[in-house]
Amino acid sequence: MSNIVIIGTQWGDEGKGKIVDLLAEYAENVVRFQGGNNAGHTMVVNNRKFISHLVPSGILQGKSCFIGNGLVVDPAVLIKELDDLESQGFPVSPDKLKISEQAHVIMPYHRRIDHAREKKKGKNKIGTTGRGIGPCYEDKATRRGIRFADLIDPEVFKDKLNNLLEEKNFYLTQYLQSESFESQLILEQYAQYADRLAPYISNVSSSINRRIKSGQNILFEGAQGTYLDIDHGTYPFVTSSNTVAGSACCGAGVGPTAIDSVVGIVKAYTTRVGRGPFPTELFDETGDAIQKKGAEFGATTGRRRRCGWLDAVMLRNSMHLNGVSGTVITKLDVLDGLETLKICTEYQVDGQSMDEFPVSLKVLADCQPQYETLPGWTESTSGVRCFEDLPVNARRYLERIEELTETPVYIVSVGPGREETMIRKNPFS
Ligand code: GDP
Ligand code: IMO
Ligand code: MG
Repeated sequence: MSNIVIIGTQWGDEGKGKIVDLLAEYAENVVRFQGGNNAGHTMVVNNRKFISHLVPSGILQGKSCFIGNGLVVDPAVLIKELDDLESQGFPVSPDKLKISEQAHVIMPYHRRIDHAREKKKGKNKIGTTGRGIGPCYEDKATRRGIRFADLIDPEVFKDKLNNLLEEKNFYLTQYLQSESFESQLILEQYAQYADRLAPYISNVSSSINRRIKSGQNILFEGAQGTYLDIDHGTYPFVTSSNTVAGSACCGAGVGPTAIDSVVGIVKAYTTRVGRGPFPTELFDETGDAIQKKGAEFGATTGRRRRCGWLDAVMLRNSMHLNGVSGTVITKLDVLDGLETLKICTEYQVDGQSMDEFPVSLKVLADCQPQYETLPGWTESTSGVRCFEDLPVNARRYLERIEELTETPVYIVSVGPGREETMIRKNPFS
C-alpha cells in the first residue's frame, strides 16, 4: 500500500495532469485536495487531448475520483466537465466521483467580484484566472461560505444566500462599480445544479480513510504550484489556497501519517502565467523559442505563459517545503536543439550572494540570478524511452538537477503523450 502526493514545484503547469494520469495506473483512487477550476490539467492519451479543471486526472484510467473538502467548486463548470467527459466516451457515475459535502461552492458573485476587482486594480492586478477562486476562499475564511452540504438543502441554501446577497450587492455596485444579483435567479439556477450533483455529494474524508485502511493506494493530485501557495508563494501574486504537499492532509481529511511519499513535478525550464516576480524570466528569442516549442499557453485561460531558465534556488526551497521524495522532470524535449542551457544556482542582491528564495518582493525585484551554463544537445529526445538512451548532455542536465536539488529524478517526460515517458523509479513500487 502507498499513498502519494503529486505537486507542482514552480508556478503551476508543470505537467501534473500528465503524470497523475500516468501514475493513476498504480492507484485505485485519485484525490484533488485544493484549488478549483483555476487549474487546467492536460492529459494526452492515444493522441486525444483532455483538459480537466475539477475532475481528478485519474478519471481516464477509470479510477475512483474524489473532490476533497479543500476545493472551491463551480458547479456549472463541474457539470460541463462531466458532460464533456461523457460525450468523449468517459461517463462519470456517482460511484466513480465523489464530491465532499464540505467543499465550498463558487457563486456567481465570486466570479463577478474577481473580475471587477482586477479591473479596479488596473496595472496592479494579480492576473487571476477570473474564476472566483479568491473571493470564494475569502468567504470560507470569514465563515460564511456555502458548502455542498448547504447547496443540497434548499432551506439552508436560501437563508445563506439571502443573508449574503445584500452585502455582496452593496460591495459590487457601490465599491466595484459593477452589477448586482437577483436572489431568485441564483436560487433557480443553483437548485438545478443541486439536483444534478446531489448523487455525487458525500463524506469524502470517511471514504478515503476507509480505502486507506483496506490497503488501497491513493494518489493525491495537487493543483497550481509551490510558488502560487498562499503562504509560501510570491505573495500577493499567488492563488488563495495552500498548494504545498502538506495541504493534501487538510484538503482531503487524512492525517499526515497516511502519506508515504511526495513527488514534485519540475518543468525542465520555468513558466509563469499572470503577473508577479520571475527572476529567471527570458525576454529574448530563446524565451520566445521555448514558449513556441513548449506551446506555453494556459490550459484554463489561453494566456501566453512567460518563460525562463530553470531556477535551482526556487527548486531547493520547493524540495523542503513539500518534503519531495523524488522529482519528475517534464518537457525535456522542449530544450532539444538549444546550443547551451542555463540553470540559476543562486541570486545576488547588492553584490551579496543569496541561496534562499527571498520573501520581500522588493528584494526579489533586485535579485540578479547567477547562472551556470551547460552544453545542450542536438538530438531529439521525444522518441527516447530509456534514460540511458538520452543524449549524454541531456543526462548531464538531469544529473545536475539532481545534484542541485539533492533529490533523485524518478521520471523523465519527453512529450505530452502518456507513453512519452521514462520511469526510473515508480513511486508506487
Ligand atoms: P498542469 O497544470 O501541471 O497539469 O500542466 P498543463 O496541462 O497546464 O500544462 C502542461 C502542458 O505541457 C500540457 O499541454 C501537456 O500536454 C504538456 N506536456 C506535459 N508533459 C510534456 C512533455 O514532457 N513534453 C511536452 N512537449 N509537452 C508536455
Ligand atoms: P494548474 O493546476 C498556473 C495563477 C493565475 C494567477 C494566480 C491567481 O493548471 O497548474 P487565481 O485565479 O487562482 O486567483 O489566480 O494564480 N494560477 C495558475 N497558474 N497554473 C495554474 O493551475 C494556476 N492556477 C492559478 O494565473 O497568476
Ligand atoms: Mg495547468
